[in-house]
Amino acid sequence: MTAVLSAAALPHERQEAAFLPVAGNGRGVVGYAIAPGGDHACVGGAAGRGQHGAQSRDEIDRMRDTNLQPERIMDAIGLRPGMTVGEAGASYGYFTFKMSRRVGPTGTVYANDIDAGALATVRERAVSEKVANIRMVLGEAADPRFPRGDLDMVVVFDCLFEFSEQAAWMKNARRYLKPGGRLVIVDPDNSKMASAHFLSRQQIHGFAQDAGYAIVATDDSFLKTHMIVVLRPVK
Ligand SMILES: C[S@@+](CC[C@H](N)C(=O)[O-])C[C@H]1O[C@@H](n2cnc3c(N)ncnc32)[C@H](O)[C@@H]1O
Repeated sequence: MTAVLSAAALPHERQEAAFLPVAGNGRGVVGYAIAPGGDHACVGGAAGRGQHGAQSRDEIDRMRDTNLQPERIMDAIGLRPGMTVGEAGASYGYFTFKMSRRVGPTGTVYANDIDAGALATVRERAVSEKVANIRMVLGEAADPRFPRGDLDMVVVFDCLFEFSEQAAWMKNARRYLKPGGRLVIVDPDNSKMASAHFLSRQQIHGFAQDAGYAIVATDDSFLKTHMIVVLRPVK
Protein backbone atom coordinates (compact mmCIF):
# COMPACT_ATOMS: atom_id res chain seq x y z
CA MET A 1 0.00 0.00 0.00
CA THR A 2 1.23 3.45 -0.80
CA ALA A 3 1.59 5.56 2.33
CA VAL A 4 -0.01 8.92 1.74
CA LEU A 5 -0.72 11.62 4.27
CA SER A 6 -2.46 14.88 3.74
CA ALA A 7 -1.40 17.73 5.97
CA ALA A 8 -5.05 18.74 6.05
CA ALA A 9 -6.00 15.29 7.33
CA LEU A 10 -3.39 15.14 10.02
CA PRO A 11 -5.47 16.10 13.05
CA HIS A 12 -6.98 12.62 12.71
CA GLU A 13 -4.27 10.87 14.64
CA ARG A 14 -5.57 7.37 13.94
CA GLN A 15 -5.34 7.90 10.27
CA GLU A 16 -1.84 9.33 10.70
CA ALA A 17 -0.72 6.35 12.75
CA ALA A 18 -2.01 4.00 10.11
CA PHE A 19 0.07 5.56 7.39
CA LEU A 20 3.17 7.00 8.98
CA PRO A 21 5.08 4.98 11.57
CA VAL A 22 7.06 7.12 13.98
CA ALA A 23 10.30 5.23 13.56
CA GLY A 24 12.79 6.76 11.17
CA ASN A 25 15.71 5.06 9.54
CA GLY A 26 17.82 5.71 12.61
CA ARG A 27 20.48 7.60 10.72
CA GLY A 28 19.49 10.89 12.27
CA VAL A 29 20.20 12.85 9.12
CA VAL A 30 17.47 14.71 7.35
CA GLY A 31 19.12 17.18 5.11
CA TYR A 32 22.23 18.77 3.76
CA ALA A 33 23.50 22.25 3.20
CA ILE A 34 26.26 23.75 1.19
CA ALA A 35 28.63 25.56 3.50
CA PRO A 36 30.09 28.85 2.27
CA GLY A 37 33.30 27.08 1.30
CA GLY A 38 31.31 24.64 -0.82
CA ASP A 39 31.27 21.72 1.64
CA HIS A 40 28.17 19.58 1.97
CA ALA A 41 26.93 19.47 5.54
CA CYS A 42 24.21 17.45 7.28
CA VAL A 43 21.29 19.38 8.69
CA GLY A 44 19.39 18.44 11.77
CA GLY A 45 18.31 15.17 13.34
CA ALA A 46 15.59 12.69 12.49
CA ALA A 47 13.08 14.72 14.45
CA GLY A 48 14.02 17.65 12.30
CA ARG A 49 14.63 20.10 15.09
CA GLY A 50 18.36 19.78 15.33
CA GLN A 51 21.29 22.03 14.75
CA HIS A 52 24.40 21.47 12.72
CA GLY A 53 27.29 22.60 14.84
CA ALA A 54 26.59 26.16 15.86
CA GLN A 55 24.19 26.74 12.99
CA SER A 56 20.44 26.68 13.33
CA ARG A 57 18.27 25.28 10.60
CA ASP A 58 17.13 28.80 9.72
CA GLU A 59 20.72 29.90 9.25
CA ILE A 60 21.46 26.87 7.12
CA ASP A 61 18.36 27.46 5.04
CA ARG A 62 19.35 31.07 4.48
CA MET A 63 22.75 29.87 3.32
CA ARG A 64 21.09 27.36 1.01
CA ASP A 65 18.82 30.10 -0.35
CA THR A 66 21.89 32.10 -1.31
CA ASN A 67 23.82 29.19 -2.79
CA LEU A 68 21.01 27.31 -4.48
CA GLN A 69 18.71 30.15 -5.59
CA PRO A 70 15.61 27.95 -5.31
CA GLU A 71 13.26 30.50 -6.92
CA ARG A 72 15.50 30.63 -9.96
CA ILE A 73 15.66 26.82 -10.05
CA MET A 74 11.85 26.67 -10.03
CA ASP A 75 11.78 29.19 -12.88
CA ALA A 76 14.35 27.15 -14.81
CA ILE A 77 12.41 23.89 -14.49
CA GLY A 78 9.08 25.52 -15.35
CA LEU A 79 7.28 24.88 -12.06
CA ARG A 80 3.99 26.76 -12.21
CA PRO A 81 0.83 27.34 -10.16
CA GLY A 82 -1.60 24.43 -10.37
CA MET A 83 1.02 21.77 -11.08
CA THR A 84 1.12 18.40 -9.35
CA VAL A 85 4.63 17.47 -8.40
CA GLY A 86 6.30 14.56 -6.62
CA GLU A 87 9.43 15.34 -4.65
CA ALA A 88 11.71 12.42 -3.82
CA GLY A 89 14.00 12.62 -0.79
CA ALA A 90 12.12 15.58 0.66
CA SER A 91 13.86 15.26 4.03
CA TYR A 92 12.92 18.15 6.34
CA GLY A 93 11.14 19.93 3.49
CA TYR A 94 13.58 22.64 2.44
CA PHE A 95 12.47 22.56 -1.21
CA THR A 96 9.04 21.06 -0.47
CA PHE A 97 7.64 24.25 1.06
CA LYS A 98 9.10 26.40 -1.68
CA MET A 99 7.43 24.22 -4.31
CA SER A 100 4.23 24.24 -2.27
CA ARG A 101 4.15 28.04 -2.43
CA ARG A 102 4.94 28.00 -6.14
CA VAL A 103 2.22 25.51 -7.16
CA GLY A 104 -0.25 27.30 -4.89
CA PRO A 105 -3.66 26.22 -3.63
CA THR A 106 -4.63 24.59 -6.93
CA GLY A 107 -1.47 22.49 -7.03
CA THR A 108 -0.14 19.63 -4.93
CA VAL A 109 3.29 18.51 -3.74
CA TYR A 110 3.73 14.84 -2.86
CA ALA A 111 6.69 14.80 -0.45
CA ASN A 112 8.40 11.41 -0.53
CA ASP A 113 11.13 10.00 1.63
CA ILE A 114 12.19 6.57 2.89
CA ASP A 115 12.58 8.08 6.38
CA ALA A 116 9.25 8.34 8.19
CA GLY A 117 10.85 10.64 10.76
CA ALA A 118 11.73 13.14 8.05
CA LEU A 119 8.16 13.07 6.74
CA ALA A 120 6.86 13.63 10.26
CA THR A 121 8.95 16.81 10.35
CA VAL A 122 7.39 18.02 7.10
CA ARG A 123 3.96 17.14 8.39
CA GLU A 124 4.49 19.05 11.65
CA ARG A 125 5.57 22.15 9.79
CA ALA A 126 2.68 21.86 7.32
CA VAL A 127 0.23 21.66 10.19
CA SER A 128 1.83 24.52 12.09
CA GLU A 129 1.91 26.78 9.02
CA LYS A 130 -1.53 25.63 7.83
CA VAL A 131 -0.17 24.44 4.49
CA ALA A 132 -2.80 22.24 2.87
CA ASN A 133 -1.27 21.25 -0.47
CA ILE A 134 1.49 18.87 0.73
CA ARG A 135 0.92 15.11 0.98
CA MET A 136 3.48 12.82 2.59
CA VAL A 137 4.46 9.59 0.80
CA LEU A 138 6.61 6.95 2.44
CA GLY A 139 8.61 5.29 -0.32
CA GLU A 140 11.09 2.49 -0.83
CA ALA A 141 14.74 2.77 -1.80
CA ALA A 142 14.05 1.77 -5.41
CA ASP A 143 10.51 3.12 -5.76
CA PRO A 144 9.01 6.43 -4.59
CA ARG A 145 5.52 4.88 -4.54
CA PHE A 146 3.74 8.10 -5.45
CA PRO A 147 -0.02 7.46 -5.33
CA ARG A 148 -0.75 8.55 -8.90
CA GLY A 149 0.63 8.22 -12.40
CA ASP A 150 -0.17 11.66 -13.75
CA LEU A 151 2.40 13.92 -12.09
CA ASP A 152 3.58 16.95 -14.05
CA MET A 153 7.02 16.56 -12.55
CA VAL A 154 9.05 14.37 -10.27
CA VAL A 155 11.81 16.40 -8.62
CA VAL A 156 14.88 15.05 -6.85
CA PHE A 157 16.50 17.95 -5.05
CA ASP A 158 20.00 17.63 -3.61
CA CYS A 159 19.87 13.90 -2.93
CA LEU A 160 20.07 11.50 -5.90
CA PHE A 161 23.71 11.01 -4.92
CA GLU A 162 22.43 9.51 -1.62
CA PHE A 163 19.99 7.02 -3.11
CA SER A 164 21.24 3.45 -2.76
CA GLU A 165 19.51 2.21 -5.94
CA GLN A 166 19.78 5.11 -8.34
CA ALA A 167 19.33 3.16 -11.59
CA ALA A 168 16.33 1.15 -10.36
CA TRP A 169 14.79 4.24 -8.76
CA MET A 170 15.00 6.18 -12.04
CA LYS A 171 13.36 3.33 -13.95
CA ASN A 172 10.51 3.15 -11.45
CA ALA A 173 10.01 6.93 -11.33
CA ARG A 174 8.88 6.90 -14.97
CA ARG A 175 5.52 5.38 -14.20
CA TYR A 176 4.41 8.28 -12.00
CA LEU A 177 4.73 10.86 -14.76
CA LYS A 178 1.91 11.90 -17.04
CA PRO A 179 2.60 11.89 -20.79
CA GLY A 180 4.87 14.89 -21.34
CA GLY A 181 5.89 14.90 -17.65
CA ARG A 182 9.46 15.53 -16.57
CA LEU A 183 11.92 14.04 -14.14
CA VAL A 184 14.05 16.87 -12.75
CA ILE A 185 17.30 16.21 -10.92
CA VAL A 186 19.04 19.03 -9.05
CA ASP A 187 22.17 17.52 -7.56
CA PRO A 188 25.68 18.55 -6.56
CA ASP A 189 27.96 18.31 -9.59
CA ASN A 190 31.07 16.39 -8.67
CA SER A 191 33.15 18.38 -11.11
CA LYS A 192 32.27 21.54 -9.17
CA MET A 193 32.51 19.97 -5.74
CA ALA A 194 35.70 17.95 -6.32
CA SER A 195 34.27 15.01 -4.40
CA ALA A 196 33.65 11.46 -5.55
CA HIS A 197 30.74 11.43 -3.08
CA PHE A 198 28.65 13.23 -5.68
CA LEU A 199 27.54 12.23 -9.16
CA SER A 200 28.89 13.52 -12.42
CA ARG A 201 26.59 14.69 -15.16
CA GLN A 202 27.85 11.77 -17.26
CA GLN A 203 26.71 9.34 -14.55
CA ILE A 204 23.26 10.94 -14.41
CA HIS A 205 23.02 10.95 -18.20
CA GLY A 206 24.04 7.25 -18.17
CA PHE A 207 21.35 6.33 -15.63
CA ALA A 208 18.85 8.32 -17.69
CA GLN A 209 19.65 6.51 -20.91
CA ASP A 210 19.52 3.09 -19.23
CA ALA A 211 16.19 3.94 -17.58
CA GLY A 212 14.62 5.14 -20.85
CA TYR A 213 14.74 8.91 -20.61
CA ALA A 214 15.79 11.51 -23.14
CA ILE A 215 17.75 14.49 -21.89
CA VAL A 216 15.70 17.66 -22.31
CA ALA A 217 18.25 20.03 -20.77
CA THR A 218 21.25 20.20 -18.49
CA ASP A 219 21.69 23.61 -16.92
CA ASP A 220 24.41 24.67 -14.55
CA SER A 221 24.70 28.22 -15.80
CA PHE A 222 23.81 29.92 -12.52
CA LEU A 223 24.63 27.33 -9.87
CA LYS A 224 28.07 27.31 -8.27
CA THR A 225 27.91 23.79 -6.89
CA HIS A 226 24.94 22.05 -8.52
CA MET A 227 23.53 21.05 -11.89
CA ILE A 228 19.96 20.75 -13.13
CA VAL A 229 19.14 17.81 -15.39
CA VAL A 230 15.67 17.69 -16.97
CA LEU A 231 14.57 14.35 -18.44
CA ARG A 232 11.52 13.03 -20.26
CA PRO A 233 10.55 9.38 -20.61
CA VAL A 234 10.86 7.93 -24.08
CA LYS A 235 8.79 4.97 -25.26
C1 LIG B 1 20.56 14.89 1.36
S1 LIG B 1 19.11 14.58 2.23
C2 LIG B 1 17.81 15.43 1.45
C3 LIG B 1 17.87 16.58 0.75
C4 LIG B 1 16.58 17.33 0.69
N1 LIG B 1 15.96 17.18 -0.61
C5 LIG B 1 16.99 18.75 0.94
O1 LIG B 1 17.30 19.43 -0.05
O2 LIG B 1 17.07 19.16 2.07
C6 LIG B 1 18.71 13.00 1.66
C7 LIG B 1 17.30 12.52 1.96
O3 LIG B 1 17.01 11.52 1.01
C8 LIG B 1 16.36 10.47 1.67
N2 LIG B 1 16.55 9.28 0.84
C9 LIG B 1 17.64 8.49 0.74
N3 LIG B 1 17.43 7.54 -0.18
C10 LIG B 1 16.15 7.73 -0.66
C11 LIG B 1 15.35 7.09 -1.63
N4 LIG B 1 15.79 6.05 -2.31
N5 LIG B 1 14.12 7.56 -1.88
C12 LIG B 1 13.65 8.65 -1.18
N6 LIG B 1 14.37 9.30 -0.25
C13 LIG B 1 15.60 8.84 0.01
C14 LIG B 1 16.98 10.42 3.05
O4 LIG B 1 16.13 9.74 3.96
C15 LIG B 1 17.14 11.90 3.35
O5 LIG B 1 16.01 12.42 3.97
